[in-house]
Amino acid sequence: SADPAQDPSVPGRTFRTVGVIGLGTMGAGIVEVFARHGFDVIGVDVDTEGVDRGRQHLENSTGRAVSRGKLGEDEQAELLGRVRYATDIADLAGADLVVEAVVESLEVKKGIFRALEQVVAPGAVLATNTSSLSVTEISTANAHPGRVIGIHFFNPAPVQGLVEVVRTVVTEPAVLEDVTGLVRSLGKNPVVCGDKAGFIANTLLFGYLNHAVSMFEQRYATREDIDAAMRFGCGYPMGPLALVDLIGLDTTYEILETMYRQGRDRLHAPTPILKQMVTAGMLGRKSGRGFYTYE
Ligand code: CAA
Ligand code: NAD
Repeated sequence: SADPAQDPSVPGRTFRTVGVIGLGTMGAGIVEVFARHGFDVIGVDVDTEGVDRGRQHLENSTGRAVSRGKLGEDEQAELLGRVRYATDIADLAGADLVVEAVVESLEVKKGIFRALEQVVAPGAVLATNTSSLSVTEISTANAHPGRVIGIHFFNPAPVQGLVEVVRTVVTEPAVLEDVTGLVRSLGKNPVVCGDKAGFIANTLLFGYLNHAVSMFEQRYATREDIDAAMRFGCGYPMGPLALVDLIGLDTTYEILETMYRQGRDRLHAPTPILKQMVTAGMLGRKSGRGFYTYE
């Protein structure tokens, strides 16, 4: 057939309805990106608590934009009205695109891509926001791996201008073309890369972050001075420990662990204190405490 909704190899699909699975640090921001650009969005999390957290995040973030005069109250109401929420992925039946942004776990992600097969149309594009897991391996859980691709947003998703588009050896060229066009229409800069743990940016970033955590663990300098060095000395918008808090210590740990497993480079062997802090519930901004404390 020549209908992209039925056949992933056919280019020129129109994306109207986007499903986002996982409404945490990244998913909530990804919902905002699509809703701001006029898409109908269906946000899914495991339970009502997760859904409520995602909804609250979107209300707060757009509320800030209203109070800064960057968004009208009517526009905010329209934007919020374009987003529906669900706790069951069966509610994604009408989606042309699904972006999965659940925890960085291969098993959880594979389960979702397996289940999506029964839910969406055969030509719907299925994307993962994974930072470090194999997109190829995730894609094999689906009966149509040619429609699976990585769409890797950066944190905070509404702010950062980069999206890494990750193609596997079986991603249909039509899907790659349609997705890079979509990313441009969101006002982001797509870069295309192959399926290797860390892609471009995290491959360059995470050794640095891990090294900073190790300096902190060794009490070589205070957290403030480690961060100040990179902010004021190198012009980074935030220091490495504040950035790990923003990313989440659990997510940082999982990414390092996957990169270490794949590359065997000691640079990526997670600094022990990371795991200890995760175990103690110090996940960074999302739990209120990490290297710093947040209210
Ligand atoms: N959601 C929506 N908007 C947000 C936001 C959020 N979570 N956080 C900040 N913003 C908006 C603010 O509303 C503000 O918007 P306006 O200019 O329109 O008013 C703008 O961003 C700037 O925010 P602030 O003035 O509060 O703060 P800032 O100028 O210090 O910027 C920052 C904050 C954008 C986080 C900046 O410090 C920064 O870019 N830090 C580096 C972040 C980074 O490196 N991200 C990549 C992490 S790695 C990754 O994401 C990949 C992975 O797989 C782990
Ligand atoms: P998070 O822990 O903040 O949020 C994960 C969300 O997924 C939670 O709301 C959780 O309830 C939900 N969830 C878990 N299992 C689910 C399931 N089976 N169905 C539906 N929802 C489920 O995680 P995060 O930091 O937002 O990371 C999400 C993904 O994005 C990961 O793959 C991560 O590697 C990637 N990523 C993270 C960042 C970052 O800076 N944190 C940046 C880019 C990419």
